[in-house]
Amino acid sequence: MRRRLLAALLAVLTVPLFAAPNPDWFPKRDMLTIGVYYYPEAWPESQWARDMENIHKLGMEYVHMGEFAWYFMEPEEGRYQFDWLEKNVALAAKNGMKVILCTPSATPPIWLTREHPEIRMVNAAGRTMDHGGREHADWSSPLYREYVRKIDTELAKRFGNDPRVWGWQIDNELSHYGRLPYGPAATASFRKWLEKKYGTIDKLNDAWGGAFWSTAYQNFEQIDIPNTETLIADPSPHALLDFRRWFADDTADYIAMQAAALRRHTKNQWITTNFMSMYEDVDPSRAKSLDVYTWTHYPVHGELNPGALGFRLGSADEMSFMHDYMRSFTGLSGPMELQPGQVNWGEVNPWPQPGAIHMWILRAFGAGARMVCTYRYRQPLYGSELYHKGLAETDGVTPSPGGREYAQAMRDVIELRKHYDANTREPETYAARRTAFLIAYDNRWDISIHPQTKRWDTVGHWFRYYRALKSMMAPVDVITADRDFSKYPFVVAPAYQLVTEDLARRWDAYARGGGHLILTCRTGEKDPRGHLWEAPWAAPINPLIGARIPFYDLLPVGINGHVTASGRTYNWGVWGEILDPDEGTEVLAQYADQFYSGRAAAVTRKLGSGTVTYVGVDTIDGELERAILRRVYQGAHVNPANLDAGFQVDWRDGFWTATNFTSQQQTIPASPNAQILVGERIVAPGGATVWMER
Ligand code: GAL
Repeated sequence: MRRRLLAALLAVLTVPLFAAPNPDWFPKRDMLTIGVYYYPEAWPESQWARDMENIHKLGMEYVHMGEFAWYFMEPEEGRYQFDWLEKNVALAAKNGMKVILCTPSATPPIWLTREHPEIRMVNAAGRTMDHGGREHADWSSPLYREYVRKIDTELAKRFGNDPRVWGWQIDNELSHYGRLPYGPAATASFRKWLEKKYGTIDKLNDAWGGAFWSTAYQNFEQIDIPNTETLIADPSPHALLDFRRWFADDTADYIAMQAAALRRHTKNQWITTNFMSMYEDVDPSRAKSLDVYTWTHYPVHGELNPGALGFRLGSADEMSFMHDYMRSFTGLSGPMELQPGQVNWGEVNPWPQPGAIHMWILRAFGAGARMVCTYRYRQPLYGSELYHKGLAETDGVTPSPGGREYAQAMRDVIELRKHYDANTREPETYAARRTAFLIAYDNRWDISIHPQTKRWDTVGHWFRYYRALKSMMAPVDVITADRDFSKYPFVVAPAYQLVTEDLARRWDAYARGGGHLILTCRTGEKDPRGHLWEAPWAAPINPLIGARIPFYDLLPVGINGHVTASGRTYNWGVWGEILDPDEGTEVLAQYADQFYSGRAAAVTRKLGSGTVTYVGVDTIDGELERAILRRVYQGAHVNPANLDAGFQVDWRDGFWTATNFTSQQQTIPASPNAQILVGERIVAPGGATVWMER
């Protein structure tokens, strides 16, 4: 009994404690609200009133301001000026719009950078970043934090009790845009983090493998950040993993510090930060101090996506995945920057497909987002982003094509609100497919530190499964494994490399209790330090999957192998584990060539009242993954839909939403009696349809 109590207590303690949102912030019946960024500091005061009126005329319900305006808020140390901002808050309110204010910490003013050059971050090559761009300050610097705390406090004192201000955004896209900090402040903070984690240097030496190449340390002060630029041979992968963890934790800590500074003086206002879509260095799940989870996403910037029009439509996988991930924390989420039109920073910057912007907004609606905001209202006439479209053209008044699509989407949402019914229930066939998709950034980092084959792509691997789930019209929640997944009928954990024995036990209990667990290659290879087990390969999951993994093979670029399943042949080449099934384990796919031809590549087994399926091979196009997932869901007597990849259909608050990221027309899976509220039954590429079943 005592043990059970302890286990229950531990379970509660391992669930991350996210803030409970205030229901008034985002009234349920409004479903989605749309707004835009405005930078008053960049435009003549004589235009503010006109611009605010025009923003309102486009239908926007809120305005976002102040994120890069530190220099205008504090032109000299300690001299704060917020009147210009207050005037714009008043103008927004006069036009019936709410306001999101931002902390300006992404752009320290020149006086601060010159007076305290030590706040600047130092990159891996030892170069110090300078004033003139953004995100060049090192937020591990206690001095920098102190300046940020002061400006945040002043802002909160002025606006924290102002009912016209709805919420706050901390910083902007916290990151150093692909670089990590290696300077003295970062090093000191890293050492402190290590000391807290390990307590003694011996423990750190064990974790980092100090016996390998005599790399052991005698004390924490001797440790520098592992840096491939300054080492002759590869640093310890375990040290690198800790560095990635430290950076994400330090970022989360910085967010928490800013949130605390704001909260000291705010009343009934929510706090967010805008993470970057799929960005690897910063882990949103570590930032537990936020009320709303938002991100930035620019789907069209020259990337080729599937289909002839893919480069104009963006990636359906990425867009949906971000919604399903960010929604999981507090239930309040949405893109804070959704592309308004052509951008300036891609390698080529094509025009989005007409209609695509409207489709993205309706995708947000379908995926359960509560807000969509776009960067920016006016196209800048100067500065590094002058080729970036806004909702208004360069004349400052004419709505751009994107502006018209935002306005249309807002009109659609207002129409949909009229049909909102608080008592509607999620359809059973849809709920029956509900899937938890388990991810951890630690796995992502550990694999990218040591990919073992340059063909591996963790996000690509996730998306092969995710895409298959969406084609089956499964509602997906992307969650971290410390959350409770026991209630989901299906759990997919792709390439879950670092496992604890406890997680393996929870997976086992989940399947025994009737759940259907799908694990994929690379899962369970290592412990959380990133060490292999002193046991057979992936030992903690061997009994669970009912198979051993005697070895895995990788093929060079240009060479593919083959796998057969149910009479069909699939190409593979990235990762292939050869499986030895135990008795009672069923083989789902077999290798069809190489020296292991005929041996198992994927297996499934019953466990208690559930099942465990293990896919040891990573294919090229995801078709085998899709076939196996369909088989698992059908085996569980759940009927998967069979949509084309990129044509996504979700249910939310009584509404079905279909968005078409494919380059062909698609037909919505609606009954003849369905009431179409937005769009048509036949959905053009880049189109969206919303309907209700009666
Ligand atoms: C975002 C950034 C914005 C702006 C935008 C341009 O990544 O947060 O401030 O630079 O890109 O597309």
